[in-house]
Amino acid sequence: MTTPRPFIAGNWKMHGLDSSLGEARVLAGWVEDHAIGARVALFPPATLIERMARTLTGVAIEIGGQDCRAQASGAFTGDVSAEMLVDAGARLVILGHSERRAGHGETDALVAAKARAAVRAGLEPIVCVGETLAERRAGQALAVVAAQLAASLPDVLAKRDFCVAYEPVWAIGSGLTPSVGEIAEAHAAIRADLIARFGAQGASIPILYGGSVKGDNAGEILRIAEVGGALVGGASLTAASFLEILSPV
Ligand code: PGA
Repeated sequence: MTTPRPFIAGNWKMHGLDSSLGEARVLAGWVEDHAIGARVALFPPATLIERMARTLTGVAIEIGGQDCRAQASGAFTGDVSAEMLVDAGARLVILGHSERRAGHGETDALVAAKARAAVRAGLEPIVCVGETLAERRAGQALAVVAAQLAASLPDVLAKRDFCVAYEPVWAIGSGLTPSVGEIAEAHAAIRADLIARFGAQGASIPILYGGSVKGDNAGEILRIAEVGGALVGGASLTAASFLEILSPV
């Protein structure tokens, strides 16, 4: 069995103006010039999706949104639907990021509804799960992740392309990462849950690790069993720091 290419996804969060497209252009040039061993995607803020899609036309870098509303359209001021993301040029969407769960009160049920919307619109969702530091210290990390996974993944994902991202809340943007053993343990547990829930499909669903992935720890993290890629925040904001992760892959 060949090892699938790792999936390296860059989440720009609420960073990026027109001038930031220069970073995407540098990345595009690099990806075009090298035989890259990874699947690569960028998740710019919604305002940049269409411009980034145009900038990256013909380049092997996919584009996604960072969130979507469950409904296709309606009186929901300020929200963006999965269909609108597709219309702008996105192919993927991040759902249930801890910054949405914590900052916008998103529940597992809401994340599942958004995942159904993504499937309806033809977007590939990356569904995020992860424990807080208090939950890890209380020995509940695996139980919390299992509960989030069970309730955030709708049945409609069966036979559809989707990814899971394991992102311990305390590792995001903090410079802290779990030990290799802790990441391996969490990913093995997620893999077992996915197989129990989705059968054979569950064995091949990519499980990304996210939380303070950088050039100097990416290699070690990507070699851990059941780590199928990385969801990168801060280090995806410049082409130089993202390439420190991508170029050795
Ligand atoms: P970070 O963010 O790489 O800046 O820790 C990761 C994420 O939130 O996906």
